[in-house]
Amino acid sequence: MSIHEPNLNVVRLDRTAANDVAALLGRGMADNPVHAAVYRGDERHRARCHARITRTLLATSAALDIEGVEQAGELIGVAAAAAPGRCQPGASARMRLLATASALGAPTLSRLLEWNGIWARHDPTEPHVHLGPVSVDRHLRGRGIGSLLLLRHVGRLDAVGAVGYLETDRPEAVDFYSRFGYAIVGEEDVLGVPTWFMRRPAA
Ligand SMILES: CC(C)(COP(=O)(O)OP(=O)(O)OC[C@H]1O[C@@H](n2cnc3c(N)ncnc32)[C@H](O)[C@@H]1OP(=O)(O)O)[C@@H](O)C(=O)NCCC(=O)NCCS
Repeated sequence: MSIHEPNLNVVRLDRTAANDVAALLGRGMADNPVHAAVYRGDERHRARCHARITRTLLATSAALDIEGVEQAGELIGVAAAAAPGRCQPGASARMRLLATASALGAPTLSRLLEWNGIWARHDPTEPHVHLGPVSVDRHLRGRGIGSLLLLRHVGRLDAVGAVGYLETDRPEAVDFYSRFGYAIVGEEDVLGVPTWFMRRPAA
C-alpha cells in the first residue's frame, strides 16, 4: 500500500475528541445512501443530524476504540470499532440516543430506529470486533488513508485471532473492505437502500 499524502499522524482518540470525530463522520458520510434516506434534506442538514447522533454515541459509549489520522493537526480520517459483546449501546446510552434522535423529529426518529433495527438483527452471535463507522474526508479519498486505517485494524484483529464484522451501504466500499479479507455474509435493504454485511474470519 502506498500513501499519497504527506505528514500524516495516526492517533488514538478518546471522548475529548468527540466533537471533531462527530463532525468528520457527519460531513464524511452525508452522501452515503442510507444517510440520505434517513435524514433527508441536503448534505449540510444530513451532516448536522449525523454529527449530533454520533456525538451522543461517543459521549455515552466508553467501549468504542477509535483511531484517527491527522494532517497538520486536523482530523481527516477515522475508524471506530467495538470490542466483542459491545456493539450495541447499553440501556442508559440507548436512552440518551433516543432523546437525541427524538429531537430530530418523529419521522427521522422512526427511520433511525428502522435502520438500527435491521442492522442490529444481522449482528453475528459469535464474538466479533465490529468495525464502523469509517470515514475519510472527501477531498482526500483514494490516497491510501482508509487503507492505512484498515491495515492497522486487521493487524489488531489478527494479533488476537478475532473475527471482524461490519456493515456498509456503498458498493465501492464492499470492494474496499474485500481487499482486507472481509466477505459479504448478508444483504438487506434499509429504507429501499441496499446494504451489505461483511465478515472477516479469524486468522
Ligand atoms: C471507504 C473509505 C473509508 C475509503 O477510504 P480512502 O482513503 O478513500 O481509501 P484508500 O485511498 O485507501 O482506498 C481507495 C479505494 O477504496 C475504494 N473506495 C471506496 N469508496 C471510495 C470513495 N468514496 N472514494 C474513493 N475511493 C473509494 C476505491 O475502490 C479505491 O480503490 P483504488 O485504490 O483502486 O482507487 C472512504 O472512501 C470513505 O470515507 N467513504 C465514505 C464513508 C463510507 O462509505 N465509509 C464506509 C462505509 S462504513
